[in-house]
Amino acid sequence: MRRRAFLSGALGAAIAALYARTPYAQGDSHAMPMQPDASGMAGMQHDTMPAHAPLAAADALQAGAPLPALRTLANESREPGHFRATLVARPVARPLLPGQPDTLFWQYDAGAADPDRGKPVIGPLIDVHEGDTVEIRFVNNLSQPSTVHWHGLPVPPDQDGNPSDPVAPGAERTYRFTLPAGSAGTYWYHPHPHRMTAEQVFRGLAGPIVVRAADDPLASWPERHLFVSDLKLATDGTIAPNSMLDWMNGREGQFALVNGARRPRIDVTRDERWRVWNGCSARYLLLAFDDGRPFAQVGTDGGLLGAPREGVTLLLLAPGERAELIVRANAHASDAKLMAAQYDRRKMAMMGGSLPPDAAFALADVRFGPGAATPDAAASPELPARLRSIVPLGPARARKSVVFSEAMDMKAMHQPGASARAMPRGMHFLVNGATYDPGRVTLTSRRGEVEAWSIENRADMDHPFHMHGTQFQIVARERAGMRVEEPLLAWRDTVNVEPGETVWIATVQRDAGDRMFHCHILEHEDLGMMGTLRVT
Ligand code: C2O
Ligand code: CU
Ligand code: CU
Repeated sequence: MRRRAFLSGALGAAIAALYARTPYAQGDSHAMPMQPDASGMAGMQHDTMPAHAPLAAADALQAGAPLPALRTLANESREPGHFRATLVARPVARPLLPGQPDTLFWQYDAGAADPDRGKPVIGPLIDVHEGDTVEIRFVNNLSQPSTVHWHGLPVPPDQDGNPSDPVAPGAERTYRFTLPAGSAGTYWYHPHPHRMTAEQVFRGLAGPIVVRAADDPLASWPERHLFVSDLKLATDGTIAPNSMLDWMNGREGQFALVNGARRPRIDVTRDERWRVWNGCSARYLLLAFDDGRPFAQVGTDGGLLGAPREGVTLLLLAPGERAELIVRANAHASDAKLMAAQYDRRKMAMMGGSLPPDAAFALADVRFGPGAATPDAAASPELPARLRSIVPLGPARARKSVVFSEAMDMKAMHQPGASARAMPRGMHFLVNGATYDPGRVTLTSRRGEVEAWSIENRADMDHPFHMHGTQFQIVARERAGMRVEEPLLAWRDTVNVEPGETVWIATVQRDAGDRMFHCHILEHEDLGMMGTLRVT
């Protein structure tokens, strides 16, 4: 195992030396600062890079406020079937830590006329319908290039915010696409510029999308949105830069926020349909209630399941994944915590081996039971036994193989300054043996042809695979030669692959053009764990 050698050897020593010299050594055993260096990073923003302030305490942000509602992006079009709006990406200062300067986020909003700027930093919800033509003018008011990627949506390749289509600082462009029948589901949007995706997302750029179907069997259900994001905050109110370990394992701050709030309160007085987004850079969310109460899963990334999955007590959402749940109020009042339960994604340790899994923590406090306004919990709608029909994709006409691996270049890591740059040198996360090269096509597919892809993880930690432009179906998972057919027929665009595991998917691309596929740990993506699929 190359990684073990690398960790227990040179990097371990290098990190330990770096670590000992920093103020982080006292406060945060996981964080080591990387000094930004603009020479290798076009447009890198220096004014927002914090000095070496230690991380704020895990309770520095107030908890217990009611779950903030997401803002909604207003439709400026009066035409039926048409959604038109402006999204501006820009720095916004928000008071966060008492007695400290405002925290400078980068966020999406509708521009100067946006009346909701006091609302969560999460980008406004784009709430649209199948058949809609969506036209979004994107204005880049950042000091770096950016794009808007419509994660999971079947939009044309040249409208999908590929890294090859950057919007320069101060420039704008309009993204245009029509949402096909069958695309109803839970999606999100975020930047995708080459090597700057991780930073732009951790500074706040991400927002939810809901596409609705005219014949949605759950249309009458009260709906609640939980967009989970990650925040790593220093005591001086700045957003901390990535440490060496953040680059290696994927960034996890001391806060996992729901709709921008730490551990908010949710009152469930009727049965509800929840849409949950994992918008974190790298944090895995193993959703559970602390008292083990079951919920139902009714949807994945790409919309509803064929039938509700009742009795679910644990549901893993890898970074980038979404789910639709049914959470029931029950007739009697009770409290439970919505947890991110312990999940071991086998993060690397500094001196070799793996880090122990993070402790479980509460995402939200939920009060169940009939409320004063709705005294009768029985008023909740009936959950249909069938939700929609999903036809298995097939037969596959071609096979594709994707292999994730890690490799560490000792020489590069020992060059002076290797660990003193915004991106560390010598740390390689590979797809089919190579890091991302904008000039290279990794795989080629034919439009309309169903393919069987195997995604094999030969690395030592979990990596979530994501593909652009389409929803796929998991067919089987294979470990140590044991192949297990996937019991759940569902549409997804992101799937976790454990070390030593191979996940088989069925997939088809409908449009010609270049699509990205990558690990959705955004640091790994930026470090090159990404490929280009050319569809002809
Ligand atoms: Cu949400 Cu290319 O990713
Ligand atoms: Cu995507
Ligand atoms: Cu990864």
